[in-house]
Amino acid sequence: MKFFVDTAEIDAIAELNDLGMVDGVTTNPSLILKSGRDIMEVTKEICDLVDGPVSAEVVALEADAMIAEGRELAKIAENITVKLPLTWDGLKACKVLSSEGKMVNVTLCFSANQALLAAKAGATFISPFIGRLDDIHIDGLELIEDIRTIYDNYGFETEILAASIRSINHVQDCARIGADVITAPPDVIKKLASHPLTNAGLEQFMKDWAKTGEKSCRTGFSDPSRQRISGSGILEIPGARVREWSGALLRQ
Ligand code: E4P
Repeated sequence: MKFFVDTAEIDAIAELNDLGMVDGVTTNPSLILKSGRDIMEVTKEICDLVDGPVSAEVVALEADAMIAEGRELAKIAENITVKLPLTWDGLKACKVLSSEGKMVNVTLCFSANQALLAAKAGATFISPFIGRLDDIHIDGLELIEDIRTIYDNYGFETEILAASIRSINHVQDCARIGADVITAPPDVIKKLASHPLTNAGLEQFMKDWAKTGEKSCRTGFSDPSRQRISGSGILEIPGARVREWSGALLRQ
């Protein structure tokens, strides 16, 4: 499953990108507003930073204007994905822009029928909004399941980009269902690494380690001829070449 980051904040994207966690980025007019940046300028910066698709949303509402705006956005960089709303005009624009070979992300999808239309119009991505459905007490994950079934039934290549992700459970459920991509705010992606039992276990290990009176078990690891593999002493390997490390040092 691919991870897109749902933000226009450069620093947050860069931090996750350095860890290889960013397969793409999604933005929308609200996120651009939040960044306080000019849309063309910040979008170009994101495209330069990230290799994968970067969604930039049109703000026109009529098909011809959407197409013109989409073509302008697509000039920013090769990895631009034109983001269009799921309206009849948006579908018309999707058909034209996707026929020109541009990547298109059809957004604001709230039903499986809408997703079916977007696939038929040639969308690269369909963005069903889970969180906003949950907000009105409709199961957003059921929508992801329905779209997965429908797309698989007919072999549509449009990728399901689960959006409006609000929690780490949304991410896990989308992975279980088989969404192709999730787009989530940076803090949700970072939270995936947390577990209270990890924190509790680490705290206990730190306390016990402090009681041993040792300072560190890592001294000497940068020098392959002086490898210390546990807290009990230095392992001397004169002239040995370390081939592999997987819990033990292998000599050649
Ligand atoms: C997706 O492309 C949207 O930008 C985003 O996921 C919307 O999320 P929200 O409902 O939390 O605003």
